[in-house]
Amino acid sequence: MAGRFQHTVAAIHEELTDHVEGLPPGGPALRLSTYVTSVFVVCLNPARMNSLDVSSEQFRSLADKVTKTCAEYLTKLDEFPVFPSTTGSVTEQLIGQEALPETGQGEHAWAALGDVLTHCRAQNGRFFGYVQGSADPVAALGDLIASVLNQNMTAWRSSPAGVTVERTVVRWLAEAIGCSEFSGTLTGGGSAANLMGLAMAREARMPANDAGIRNAAAGIVYASEQVHMSVPKAVAMLGMGRDNIRYIPCDDQYRMIPAELDRAILQDRQKGRRAIAVVASAGTVNTGSIDPLRKIAAIAHAHHAWLHVDGAYGALAAIAAPEKLDGLVHADSLSLDPHKWLYQPLDCGCLLYRDAAIARKTFTYTGTYAKQLDSDPIESFAFFEESMELSRRFRALKLWLSLRYHGMAAFREAIRKNLEQAQRLAGAIRSTPELELVAPVELSAVCFRHRFRPDASEETRNRFNLAVLKRVIRRGRIYLSNAELEGKFCLRACIVNHRTKDGDLDGIIPEVLDATSEVMPKFERGSGRE
Ligand SMILES: Cc1ncc(COP(=O)(O)O)c(C=O)c1O
Repeated sequence: MAGRFQHTVAAIHEELTDHVEGLPPGGPALRLSTYVTSVFVVCLNPARMNSLDVSSEQFRSLADKVTKTCAEYLTKLDEFPVFPSTTGSVTEQLIGQEALPETGQGEHAWAALGDVLTHCRAQNGRFFGYVQGSADPVAALGDLIASVLNQNMTAWRSSPAGVTVERTVVRWLAEAIGCSEFSGTLTGGGSAANLMGLAMAREARMPANDAGIRNAAAGIVYASEQVHMSVPKAVAMLGMGRDNIRYIPCDDQYRMIPAELDRAILQDRQKGRRAIAVVASAGTVNTGSIDPLRKIAAIAHAHHAWLHVDGAYGALAAIAAPEKLDGLVHADSLSLDPHKWLYQPLDCGCLLYRDAAIARKTFTYTGTYAKQLDSDPIESFAFFEESMELSRRFRALKLWLSLRYHGMAAFREAIRKNLEQAQRLAGAIRSTPELELVAPVELSAVCFRHRFRPDASEETRNRFNLAVLKRVIRRGRIYLSNAELEGKFCLRACIVNHRTKDGDLDGIIPEVLDATSEVMPKFERGSGRE
């Protein structure tokens, strides 16, 4: 019956598609075929009306379809433009205007998936934007299993195996970066981990959970000028006030200057203001710079301030180059993002901390309905007593499978390769007269720009480079993002991608130069508009 039904629906859909040929895709054509198909779904398969149940036969058929779609997608990934040739109005028309489906479409629900796939940014080896990991397909399969199992990572009793897997991968991550004595929890990403790290700092140094912030003006958070935006956001959400952040100047390698930090803390102390936390960056978002962690830790701790290290981008580089991240171990709390430089599919962040008792002091507030019924130290463990979240997905499973499947040596090698590729790109930029490197390359972020004309103003040069970047993205062969360093607009390639081959990397400069030749005439004619 199910087979005949599928066949009928497919035949009807094909027929309709023939009849509505010529109509714009996604408009009336899609709506009409969806509607008629839905009617048949109801008539031929009334059981679907009353139940969300999916038989194991149906599940197998759907899962086969999904696996086939994913495998084909991965096979063709390299051929896709790295950014789809589309516009906001096209995606609205194709995907964004469908009415809420009152009646289930069965397998026809997959019909518009093709548009979704072709209008996504492709995470192939030529994607170098932001700090975006490349999604190991083994881990993606782990995500599917996690959703099928639907384990809630609240506490051991909610998922004995799941919670043990998460505690295991957190232990592995801590060990991999040389912080074995830390424990922690997986998060949705670096922003959530930074928020939690700073909540712990506040509770450890200026408790406010019960009485609120009674003395907000006294507490100061210190971070470098290059700190990621998630930190001021967290400070605001925690009620500590963004005006109470001191942005410490950086050296010519965009690293926080320890002496300036010390001076700022002392100056504040003289005014009766106390240091709550110092946030050091282990890989700044713009340039991948690593603050001098050991020196900063000594200063922070001498002033009794909490040291939170934002290692969302760079901490995992310690797997391949531990010497670059010397001092990481002195953090009180530390963010790292497996969905960045451990190539995991979104989402997978992590907060590590040295003292779980402070995490519990910060996050434990347990309703009687959630009280632990057992006292066994393993069985009474609750992530919700160390995290801001209660219900959490089983994101540890993908990481666990991915690490077990490939082994740490493979990840170490991939990270090492990305580090080398960044140096290779930097070298190629140095030897291209039209381009200049704007910042030293410490990890895998490479900031550069076109020199344009020597007599041009900085403002025109910035506009020119912006136009080049937009053109590069529109050409769809490589994806770069941008950074602004001391008023200079830069193109930025960040390589946290296990798919990037040297050939992909070597395509960057020719692509930028081709885009340059395309926008140059407009600037020479003086319009300068993209
Ligand atoms: C240094 C740094 N910190 C924090 C974040 C935020 O991480 P997420 O996007 O996972 O929230 C990023 C993101 O790029 C980052 O580069």
